[in-house]
Amino acid sequence: HRGARVGLVPTMGFLHEGHRTLLDTAVAHDDVAALTIFVNPLQFGPTEDLATYPRDLERDLAMANAAGVAHVLHPSVTEMYPTPIVTAVTVAGVSEPLEGLSRPTHFSGVATVVAKLFAIAGPCRAYFGEKDYQQLAVIRHLVADLDMGIDIIEVATVRESDGLALSSRNRRLDPSQRVAAAIVPRALVAVQDAFWHGTIDAEKLRETAVRIIADEPQAHLEYVEVVDRDTLRPLQSATPDASVVIAVWFGQIRLIDNVALSRL
Ligand code: PAF
Repeated sequence: HRGARVGLVPTMGFLHEGHRTLLDTAVAHDDVAALTIFVNPLQFGPTEDLATYPRDLERDLAMANAAGVAHVLHPSVTEMYPTPIVTAVTVAGVSEPLEGLSRPTHFSGVATVVAKLFAIAGPCRAYFGEKDYQQLAVIRHLVADLDMGIDIIEVATVRESDGLALSSRNRRLDPSQRVAAAIVPRALVAVQDAFWHGTIDAEKLRETAVRIIADEPQAHLEYVEVVDRDTLRPLQSATPDASVVIAVWFGQIRLIDNVALSRL
């Protein structure tokens, strides 16, 4: 595809409508859309859900086909890592707070595999969902710092009718946890609402979310913060371009979500 503009959609498979939106956007805007499916062991911690991470290659390939994707790359772990990998890409700063606190090696695993995928793909436009907000910030820094020549395209989170952000992990919620999980977007919207009613003190905004999550016995809050969009550092006073980021456990399932304060 010499001269063709490539749209790359890196995923770990088990595609849902959020991924479908990434694929549709790439198909609509680029000459050639390419999907990668690889459950990357490097980004899972020793106690995390690598073994149980959901997979369904057949369904994924059908979705890619229906979306009009030209190429699918789904390497095995030994194809991706034929020899023990001794090179790692670490994006300091932005990888450390929030997700980085409980998942200290996660973003290095993400940055390393994403750097490999970009090297394999060559110059392209790469599509990522806003749901993984900190991941997007890590990848923006990676590409800028290493002059990778990749355009990062951020695509809005796709939500269920009750507001729950689509995630492959949602499938692992039992029916009652699934109902309870709607508390996550509700808490985020309440923070947005409080901001628009004049609350800018970040601690007060956090407390709004803490109270709402505490009302749902099945939900266990890991963190909620009002953060700067680029550094992911917690702010003391919210600004319209800040975001609220949250991580909540339902049993063994950990969900993350975020919303920009300025988005209605
Ligand atoms: O967001 C994901 O699915 C993964 O973290 C990514 C970017 C494909 C890297 O493995």
